[in-house]
Amino acid sequence: PAVPVLTIDGPSGSGKGTISRAVAARLGWHYLDSGALYRAVGLAAGWADIDFSDHAALVRCTFDTRVEFVGEGSEEPRVLVNGTDATPELRTEITGAAASAIAAIPEVRAALRDRQRAFRQLPGLVADGRDMGTVIFPEARYKVFLTASAEERAERRYKQLKEKGVSVTLAGLLREILARDARDAQRAVAPLRPAEDAVLVDTTGTPVDVVVQRVLDLVVPTA
Ligand code: C5P
Repeated sequence: PAVPVLTIDGPSGSGKGTISRAVAARLGWHYLDSGALYRAVGLAAGWADIDFSDHAALVRCTFDTRVEFVGEGSEEPRVLVNGTDATPELRTEITGAAASAIAAIPEVRAALRDRQRAFRQLPGLVADGRDMGTVIFPEARYKVFLTASAEERAERRYKQLKEKGVSVTLAGLLREILARDARDAQRAVAPLRPAEDAVLVDTTGTPVDVVVQRVLDLVVPTA
């Protein structure tokens, strides 16, 4: 039988991760955190001291990097990179920057394509990323594009960083987010844009449980 796929794409800070995990848990479906794959490769490339201008080495590293998701659906899922628990390191800004650098290389994206598609297994898959609905699962039955105003995304990020004791300014974060949006939307390979058949869901000023329900309603219209 065809395995149903729900793609959830959007910019960082749109609440994708939180919403996607919650929706996957409610549906009892598998969950693909595609950003974590890019982060894992960025991290492994750093460990191996690979020069980021050496695309052939980065492609080899992409194929060689083992990524395991442990405790899917639990409170604290862990991500193992080449057998090492790299969960906290994966979330850092440095790893995020490495991920977005390697994510701009077409050969690296191609090297991750089949690995992402392999997550499509019964009873269903929630796929979270930037190009899930446009490139990886263009035939997905359900597609959502999550947005939130740049101001709100900056505020969410500001709160997260303040809790971690990182000192930043809201204005500075907003500038960074606007610059990242422009870069992501303009890059030549897999630019961030909604699939034509995606449902746009704006999370600005909306509590998580309300957004989760709105997404679930798309999948199970009668629930
Ligand atoms: O979503 P997350 O912040 O973990 O993604 C890290 C980086 O990986 C993003 O900034 C983006 O450049 C890249 N990415 C991508 N395509 C995806 C998922 C992530 O290019 N499907």
